Amino acid sequence: MNTTPNQTPTGKPSGNAASRYLFLFLVGLAVGAVATVMAMRALDARKDPYPEAVMNVMSAHLGALYKNVEGNRCAATDTIPHLQTLRTMANDIEHAFGDLREDSRFAGHASDLRASLDGALSSPPLACNGVEAALKQVGANCKACHQDFRG
Ligand code: HEC
Repeated sequence: MNTTPNQTPTGKPSGNAASRYLFLFLVGLAVGAVATVMAMRALDARKDPYPEAVMNVMSAHLGALYKNVEGNRCAATDTIPHLQTLRTMANDIEHAFGDLREDSRFAGHASDLRASLDGALSSPPLACNGVEAALKQVGANCKACHQDFRG
């Protein structure tokens, strides 16, 4: 009687079969991962990155201003460059959202935001409570449009 363990009917050790399955499983996993990345890229490529880019840049500068307030850094030189970039990006909103440009409520929200930023830039806040007040107003403008238009 053959008492050697791990033998298949062909006489080969069954460990081979196990490692073959493991190998196939890993190949499948790798192919699946590559296919997923390719599919996600393809889906992404169909989307215009411009609108989200405008929003993300504005968000970064708004976030920087919030951080300034938290760190009590509210000199004009800390604040004004961010407000200026926000104001410039706000010019791009209608251009970036081509299909919404014609909607008067959308354009209204965008011009409200520009008006707040113009106000803040015409008499720049020189202390943190002033920056905070400006942030509150600008943040309310962002929120108003998002409530109406962000799906
Ligand atoms: C006039 C309308 C409008 C204004 C004003 C506006 N947004 Fe948006 N925002 C949108 C819309 C519409 C979307 C959804 C875009 C999408 O998913 O394609 C959006 C999406 C975003 C996103 C998500 C972007 C992403 O990558 O999915 C962020 C962050 C954002 N806005 C930040 C801001 C900030 C900060 C402000 C104010 C300084 C602001 N937005 C003002 C309309 C506006």
